Formats: sequence, C-alpha cells, structure tokens
Amino acid sequence: MHNIILIGFMGCGKSTVGVKLSYHLRLPFLDTDKLCEQKMGKTIRETFEQDGESFFRETETEVLRSLSDGKNANIIATGGGLPLRDINRNILKDVGTVFYLRATPETIFDRIGQDTKRPLLLCEDPKKRIESLLKERDPIYMEAADHVIDVDGKDFRRIIREIASLCKEQK
Ligand code: S3P
Repeated sequence: MHNIILIGFMGCGKSTVGVKLSYHLRLPFLDTDKLCEQKMGKTIRETFEQDGESFFRETETEVLRSLSDGKNANIIATGGGLPLRDINRNILKDVGTVFYLRATPETIFDRIGQDTKRPLLLCEDPKKRIESLLKERDPIYMEAADHVIDVDGKDFRRIIREIASLCKEQK
C-alpha cells in the first residue's frame, strides 16, 4: 500500500490539495478530521468543548491506526495537530509517503484568521497564536515529512504537479 499523506498547519491547504490530487491521480481521498467527526458523532469544535482536546487526540490516533490496516492507496489529509504525538509520527511512516505543505504564518492568517471551526484559534489574538504554534510545530512537521512543499504564492495546480512528480520519481 502506498498512501500519499498531507501534513501541515491548519489552513495550509491539505484538504483542498488532497481533493484535487485525488482527481489527478484517480485515488480515493480521506480526511482524518472528517473520519474523527464521524467516529465521535459531533464536530471537532463540539468535541473540544464537551470532551476536551485529549479525547480528540485519542480519536485521531485510533483513526490513523485504522488507516494503516488498509490495502489500497489513498490520498490522506491529516489534522494539523496529528503529527505532534510521537506514536502518530511512527504510524505515519508505515502508512505512506508524507508531504509537508509548509506555509508562512501570514499566509495562514490570511486564509483562516477569522475561522470559527478551529477551536485552537478561538482566542483573542489568533495571529499571535498562529505564529507561536507554527514555530513550535514546524520542526515536528519537518521530522515527520519525507518531502517538503512550500505553498506560499503557488496555485493549486503547481502544488499538485510538484507532489505528483515527486511520487513518480519514487516509483
Ligand atoms: C488542529 C487542526 C485541525 C483539527 C483540530 C486541531 C490542530 O485540522 O484537527 O481543530 O491542532 O492544528 P486542520 O489542520 O484540517 O484545520
């Protein structure tokens, strides 16, 4: 099984790139946030509010584990916090090739600064939160990644071409 996994900060484009890539490569698309919401029976925001972040993180690991049992290749978009747990980074290595979609805090703020679905950004100063979380997480994403794709200022077609050509090289 050779899945293509997209990791990176909230708003870096994992889901949008994932859907487009799945058309391009004719592979099914999976999104760990959506799979978690199905499993929890509520939205991520509701889960954070009612059950706490750690319950969500447990569910994320269970969902990721279930993906490592699959036989067919998929395009998998992950939640921005999924690679933070050591155990998840280990599972990721077994699940497929990991692409880190790297974006600057400015790009991320422009895209999701006003978002209300992401509990981690529901704070007084989302810009500051994005900067500090990204600083903390960037080395972790780098560690988990097989390839890094800088996404700032690139249109989706270009990002998809870059990922697809790296996948071809690997074959
Ligand atoms: C999170 C990112 C979100 C979602 C949850 C927590 C994070 O996913 O999993 O709100 O810790 O960065 P997206 O990266 O798809 O927004």
